[in-house]
Amino acid sequence: MEDWTVLLDYYKEICNCQKCDLARSRTNFVFGSGSQNSKLIFIGEAPGYNEDIQGKPFVGAAGKLLDNLLNEIGMSRNEVFIANVLKCRPPENRDPRKEEIELCRGYLFRQIEIIDPELICTLGRHSTSLILNTEQPISKLRGNKFIVDGRTVLPIFHPAAALYTASNLQVIKSDFQRIKKILRGEEEEEATPVLEKEPVSFVDIKEKENDPGQLGLF
Ligand code: URA
Repeated sequence: MEDWTVLLDYYKEICNCQKCDLARSRTNFVFGSGSQNSKLIFIGEAPGYNEDIQGKPFVGAAGKLLDNLLNEIGMSRNEVFIANVLKCRPPENRDPRKEEIELCRGYLFRQIEIIDPELICTLGRHSTSLILNTEQPISKLRGNKFIVDGRTVLPIFHPAAALYTASNLQVIKSDFQRIKKILRGEEEEEATPVLEKEPVSFVDIKEKENDPGQLGLF
């Protein structure tokens, strides 16, 4: 039977988070969903209207597309883990704010540590900037592989960007074929470290966040 206990305990620990104002406007804290033993994590931006109501990530139109893309490579959402940069919906689906990301990212990093995936697939610019610690545009980064803390990171377009733009849909479909190859160990292409700064280590961030002195709180 699948072991869910560590992730479930972590959910119970953080689901009443009040660290930022989004706690006041949310309907649900959207922890993420899928398998604790997954080799693959997708990271989106933040819950939208449907996700906030249902408490699950990617359940609207972009989520349906994500399901279809997974089906095309013979996978289902139960075999992967799906999370977001923010756990709570920003009002009117505005972009996440820098301070919200800073307060929330430790949760995502701990999820990554618990699940310990082989491949992290960042969906769109917000999760890509966070994980790779870069301001470079997603159009430049997508489809390139990076290594962060020993894990492969593959930035791809956010499914929402492919909903109404046929060319983006083709690109995202071909990136899903890459996902399949990477997971099967069939990909020969080397990781491409083209960033201006080193990616922030998940471990460093967690350590800093467990030590409030380092965050300038005292
Ligand atoms: N878009 C996201 O980035 N995340 C969701 O959960 C839904 C839509």
